[in-house]
Amino acid sequence: MKVKDVEALNPVTVDPGASLESLASAVMERGVVYVLSETGGLLGVITGSKLISALTSGYARGATAQDVMIPAESLPHVGPDTDLHTAAGFFESSCVPEIPVVENGVLVASLPQRSVLMTFSSTVASSKGNRYHEQRALVILRSLHEGLIMIDKDLIIREFNPAAERLMNAKAADRIGQKAVVVSRDESPIFDVMKAGKARYNVITPLADGRVFSVNYVPMVEDGEVQGIIETFHDITEQEDLRAQLVNSRDELDRAFALTLPNSRVEHKLKHTPEYRDRYDPETGLITITEVIEDGNYKHVVNALKVLADLNTKGIMSLLGISKDVLVQSIIFHDLGKSQPQLEIGQTVDPKKAFEFSPAHAARSADIASHFYHKEADVIWLIRYHHHKEDELPPDFPRHLMPMLRLLQLVDGLSAALTRRNAHIKLDVEGTRVTVYERNGHPDFNKSRVVDLFTGDATVLNVD
Ligand SMILES: [Fe+2]
Ligand SMILES: [Fe+2]
Repeated sequence: MKVKDVEALNPVTVDPGASLESLASAVMERGVVYVLSETGGLLGVITGSKLISALTSGYARGATAQDVMIPAESLPHVGPDTDLHTAAGFFESSCVPEIPVVENGVLVASLPQRSVLMTFSSTVASSKGNRYHEQRALVILRSLHEGLIMIDKDLIIREFNPAAERLMNAKAADRIGQKAVVVSRDESPIFDVMKAGKARYNVITPLADGRVFSVNYVPMVEDGEVQGIIETFHDITEQEDLRAQLVNSRDELDRAFALTLPNSRVEHKLKHTPEYRDRYDPETGLITITEVIEDGNYKHVVNALKVLADLNTKGIMSLLGISKDVLVQSIIFHDLGKSQPQLEIGQTVDPKKAFEFSPAHAARSADIASHFYHKEADVIWLIRYHHHKEDELPPDFPRHLMPMLRLLQLVDGLSAALTRRNAHIKLDVEGTRVTVYERNGHPDFNKSRVVDLFTGDATVLNVD
């Protein structure tokens, strides 16, 4: 049997420059994330334990996927035609839950330990008397990093591998032949799986001792009847703690940001002005609403501040004529005067008719920032003209604000891409030039460019 004969998964991939925080959810979901170069070459792998140790060991701020990955050279990889026994051997010697499947130098799939395990388990069930396969399967079961318990239909434990001994703090000799004890706090899915004959994967299971396991339950079916269950599991307590920490720090960040707002009315307006995701039909020029983001304006402002913070760490604020305070205030107030239509998912509208002409909300936002919040003149200029093209600006627009206006428009556009199009963005700053690499599901916006903040020159880059 070969690798291509068993179930493989679509690999989850990231750019080498992805931040550690942005990797967390992908790693939590799958346990392993592949780092690819711009040309699609496999650079390395990030596992949950690698990420956790990077995050908890106070890894330098701004560290990226590339800094913490296990390099591709030190990883085993297989091809679609690799023999499954050879692939299984790699799991014995490596601590990754999935192995990359590479064909002609390109990552084509990810082979999970589980698929190999299930294949060999069914081999055991279907080839009784075949000593070689049985022996081989047992060696593999016993070398797994995941805990494995095999239970027959009477709930008697038939296999208890060394990883299960370690995770359950029990001896196989004491458990094999005994009736299985349900250690989860809640009702175990064993009974459902036994009855329905359908597998259940990644069941998050809190234990009575405070740990959290992720458990797979796979029925062993022979002649249409469930003969038992293979239960595989691993400890995800650290990942769950990390997830809780991340959620907490997101909440804290949210509260901290709300504190920077002038008052609760500004917060209320931002949180109750929706933004929409849509599908554009180039033939009719109409859009169909696909998602309503109720607090869209709030998210837009937060994302714009994040983009600005990223540019700040890359040195943008050391440029003459760029003021952090002016930009932060401009971002907070720039869309505060926006009047959004109330649209529903599935509704098709003409965007030119449904949405207000952008310079109108810009002027209203500038009036609000000026009259109610007494913001400085530079902030008001920037807000009032954030939707104007350069050749449409009034003659008295202060020329010294041009670099900041260009930067505000860039940040505003990138935040819209993050908020409304789930874009992936990478930024570089070199002198007065900002390079933007943007990728998202909307091909019209899938472009990379260089903008010179001093001259206004913009060049589109051809990057695949
Ligand atoms: Fe705007
Ligand atoms: Fe905006």
